[in-house]
Amino acid sequence: MVDPASSITVVRDIGSLRHRLKDWRLANRTIALVPTMGALHAGHMALVEHAKALADEVVVSIFVNPKQFGPDEDLAAYPRPASEDWELLAAADVELLYMPDAPVMYPEHFQTYVKVTKVSQGLCGDHRPGHFDGVATVVTKLLLQALPDYAVFGEKDYQQLVVIKRLVRDLDIPVDIVGLPTVRETDGLALSSRNAYLSEDERAIAPVLYKELSAVAFDIANGARSSERCSQAADALLKAGFDTVEYVDARDAATLAPLTSQGKPARVLAAVTLGKARLIDNVPVH
Ligand code: PAJ
Repeated sequence: MVDPASSITVVRDIGSLRHRLKDWRLANRTIALVPTMGALHAGHMALVEHAKALADEVVVSIFVNPKQFGPDEDLAAYPRPASEDWELLAAADVELLYMPDAPVMYPEHFQTYVKVTKVSQGLCGDHRPGHFDGVATVVTKLLLQALPDYAVFGEKDYQQLVVIKRLVRDLDIPVDIVGLPTVRETDGLALSSRNAYLSEDERAIAPVLYKELSAVAFDIANGARSSERCSQAADALLKAGFDTVEYVDARDAATLAPLTSQGKPARVLAAVTLGKARLIDNVPVH
C-alpha cells in the first residue's frame, strides 16, 4: 500500500515486509530497523537519521504494543497520529514503514512470551508488572520478522535497552543493537510522546527531573554516597511538585545491578508521575 501523500511504502503484514526486505538483501544492502510506537518526535527521528547513516536501507515500525501496557495504563489514550507520522518519515526519506495490526502480531491462540529475568526486575519492572515481557516479546518478534543487520533504540528507555541487549545475546539473534543518547527540549526535558499529557503548569515542573538527576550524577561522580543522594533527590522532586516518585536509583550501567564499587560506569535512573503523565529519565555518571 502506498500513501498518496508521500513516497513511503507502508506494509501491514509479515509476508509483504519479508518480500520487500528480500529484494534489499539480494542486492547486498544492509538494513537497519527502528522500532517505535508512533507519535513520532525529534527523539525518534534522531534514531532514524542514525539508522540511515549506519545501513543502506531503513525500515521503521509503528506498533502500539498492547502487551506492554498494564490494565490501568494508557493504551487507549496513547496518541496515534498516523498521517503526521507518515509525513515525518517521508520527509526523512524513509522508504519502508511496517505498521502491523494487533492480530498480525498476536494471532488467535498466541501463547509464547520472551521473559528476560534479572535486568527486567527492579526500577520500572517493579512498577509496571509484565511490561518488559511485553517489550521483550514484541521486539524479538520484530527482529525475527525483519532480520535487520542493526536495530536502533534510545537510551531514554535505558532499562528497555539493557533488556533488549540481553535477549539478543541470550537468544543468539544476529543483529547489532545500537543505543543512542536521549534527545531533549532546550530546558532539558526528555522528548516523549507522553509529554502531551502535561498541562502548562506541569510542563513547567517537568524539566526539574533532568536537572535533579544531573545533580545526583555529578555528586556521585564526586564521591557522594549513592543511596543517600538518591533519596535526597526523591524528596526534592516531591517538593518541586511531582505527584509521586516511583524511584530514583543509581545502578551499574551495563547490568543495572546496585552499585557496589566506585569506578565502574554507572547510570542514575528515575520514574515519577506528574498529573496524567508518567515520566522516566536517566543520565550517565561521568
Ligand atoms: P517508543 O516509546 O515509541 O520509542 C521508540 C524508540 O524511540 C525507543 O528506542 C525509545 O528509547 C526511543 N526514544 C524515545 N524518546 C526518545 C528521546 N527523547 N531521545 C532518543 N530516543 C528516544 O520504546 C518503545 O516505543 C517501545 O517499547 C518499543 C521498543 C517500540 C517496543 O514496543
